[in-house]
Amino acid sequence: MKSTFTNLAVFASVVVGQKSAWEQCGGIGYNGVTNCVNGYACTSYNPYYFQCVPGTSTTVPKTSSTHPATATTTSRITTSSSKVTTTSTAVTSPPTKSTSSVSSTRTTATSAPVATGFAKTNGLLFNIDGVTKYWAGTNCYWCGFLTANGDVDHVFADMAAAGLKIVRVWGFNDVNTIPSDSTVWYQYLSASGSQINTGANGLQRMDYVVSSAQAHGLKLIINFFNNWNDYGGKNAYVNAFGGNGSTWYTNTAAQTQYKTYIKAVVDRYKTSPAVFAWELGNEPRCDGCDTSVIYNWAASTSAYIKSLDSNHMVTIGDEGFGPDSAGDGSYPYQAGAGGYVWTDTLNITTIDFGTFHLYPDSWGQPYDWGNLWVKTHAARCVAANKPCLFEECESFSRCPPSLVTQPDTD
Ligand SMILES: *[C@@H]1O[C@H](CO)[C@@H](O)[C@H](O)[C@H]1NC(C)=O
Ligand SMILES: *[C@@H]1O[C@H](CO)[C@@H](O)[C@H](O)[C@H]1NC(C)=O
Repeated sequence: MKSTFTNLAVFASVVVGQKSAWEQCGGIGYNGVTNCVNGYACTSYNPYYFQCVPGTSTTVPKTSSTHPATATTTSRITTSSSKVTTTSTAVTSPPTKSTSSVSSTRTTATSAPVATGFAKTNGLLFNIDGVTKYWAGTNCYWCGFLTANGDVDHVFADMAAAGLKIVRVWGFNDVNTIPSDSTVWYQYLSASGSQINTGANGLQRMDYVVSSAQAHGLKLIINFFNNWNDYGGKNAYVNAFGGNGSTWYTNTAAQTQYKTYIKAVVDRYKTSPAVFAWELGNEPRCDGCDTSVIYNWAASTSAYIKSLDSNHMVTIGDEGFGPDSAGDGSYPYQAGAGGYVWTDTLNITTIDFGTFHLYPDSWGQPYDWGNLWVKTHAARCVAANKPCLFEECESFSRCPPSLVTQPDTD
């Protein structure tokens, strides 16, 4: 079926039909209709992803475009940045706040800094609420799965008091069976109809995390899928839509639902200054894949998020694998480790900063090998003029202390 359709699209001189609002309408590897319905223009976000966005241009872009670093993409980023500046005072709360009666003496944080806008990059550093410097952060994958508001407030108050600023939470919780109790779940995946849980044990838990983060002056990294099986992960999509963890990146049903979920979450918090960045997923890997698979997926998904929300930064959430001429050729420096080349994905214009993790034990490396890992990634970020975020480390005692606890000099 697929190849028949592809051949038709290639040989027909005119492709009849129009794509609806927000649908893909072009990009490398795309062979479908390139016209948009009235009032929408097919716009290039990067060579891999063109989308029907509100506008009147009738120019139909070519589906096979040029090198990733095009002038179009660059000016798009500039536009986004200036929009951030002009809308920086529009501070709003998430649409639906939990109204639980649980109260906590810590809810009103002592002196949470007032948000002045959206976090953004400033060269190799991040600018948060007008301040550019090194920021300390932490992971709290479980924060959105707590069921008592007071617990969230308690955790965030302690983090803020410890001088932490950036908090990474799991923005996914996928199931194939809806829990019969009040266990938190965000998305039910099924070929016969998926469901996004906006109820009290669904995204309303994330609403509270976002509002509490705002009250405590914290900034959240929120991601959209897990490479691993915890909290559903790619496996929950595979159970629902078939394929395997490697075909997930190109499985139309899985990717359509993944984007539907992304839109549901992004639309909820796109005006919130408590969001630091959107993250495509936790440790995306593609076993046995050509490195173009993850590259194309990361380019198109990040462009899609930017099309929904030009306020916030976007990052990948990957471990940092792939060849690097300055590396030592060990397993993590091989493309096969993750199925991508980190130095290439870092170049994607709709990716604002790079992430990397360090698991020497799991990767069969001596602990001091981590120094090389950190240095080679830092050098690539300098070359790309983007910040690097050292996101996960195997164990506190094995991680460079200066990076685990970046001093907060304020
Ligand atoms: C996933 O499925 C594809 C297509 O059937 C197959 O070529 C590939 O080997 C599988 N990959 C893994 C990691 O199982
Ligand atoms: C990314 O940038 C590096 C240099 O900074 C370059 O060597 C590499 O070819 C680029 N990759 C892509 C896919 O553009």
